[in-house]
Amino acid sequence: MSEQKPRWSSVDQIAAEVLSCTRCVLSETRTRAVPGDGSSTTAVMFIGEGPGQNEDEQGLPFVGRAGKLLNSLLAEVPLQREDVYITNVVKCRPPGNRDPEPDEVAACLPYLQAQIELIDPRVIVTLGRHSMLRFYPQGKISNDHGRIIDIGGRVLLPVYHPAAALRNPRLNQTLREDMRRIPEAVRKSLLLRRPAEPGSKPEHRSALTESEEDVQPVAESSDTSATGSDTEAADQRDQMSLF
Ligand code: URA
Ligand code: SF4
Repeated sequence: MSEQKPRWSSVDQIAAEVLSCTRCVLSETRTRAVPGDGSSTTAVMFIGEGPGQNEDEQGLPFVGRAGKLLNSLLAEVPLQREDVYITNVVKCRPPGNRDPEPDEVAACLPYLQAQIELIDPRVIVTLGRHSMLRFYPQGKISNDHGRIIDIGGRVLLPVYHPAAALRNPRLNQTLREDMRRIPEAVRKSLLLRRPAEPGSKPEHRSALTESEEDVQPVAESSDTSATGSDTEAADQRDQMSLF
């Protein structure tokens, strides 16, 4: 993921560049770019698909109806929006809320990759199918929602998109249950052995991060024993479900 030297040294720097970005045609129709919002030291990062109309108008992610639902589901975890970071695969609204084109996703991906590297969350919660597929291309949202999946040093928790849950009460309940697995996902992520990096940050201190002593030492999973000493090896590890 990071063969090149990082272009940005902070999440704010990324946001500043996104605001004036013209790397794809979505820049021609957007009102405001939506870089992302929240804590840059969080253990939990949410990734949606792309801004909708309200987000495009306000320059903030998940501020419309789907955002209101997300806020109430976060409160049940319990988490506050300020405790987590929320962003999207593409930072500008696709006209008429169409799916982003592959070239638009590709143009925007360096921003998302850099956000993940700099924030370095323990858990990535993908909102919706498209976002899940960026991290877990073999995934199927109807099977894989709510699973805690090792993606190499951190875990992925794919959930249904809140907009889908607004349309379908059954999905609403499923989304609610899946979101309640976030604390467990954070605990599981702490059981993954991560290679120590020179100059690495201290442990995340944000909400839901419990000390490792609090985590029951469940049976060592076979993958952790194979963890090599460098990040590359960890990143290349086969994706697997912890549960
Ligand atoms: N839907 C998304 O995927 N992202 C937003 O920011 C808002 C709605
Ligand atoms: Fe730039 Fe991404 Fe917006 Fe395209 S969607 S203009 S790549 S910020």
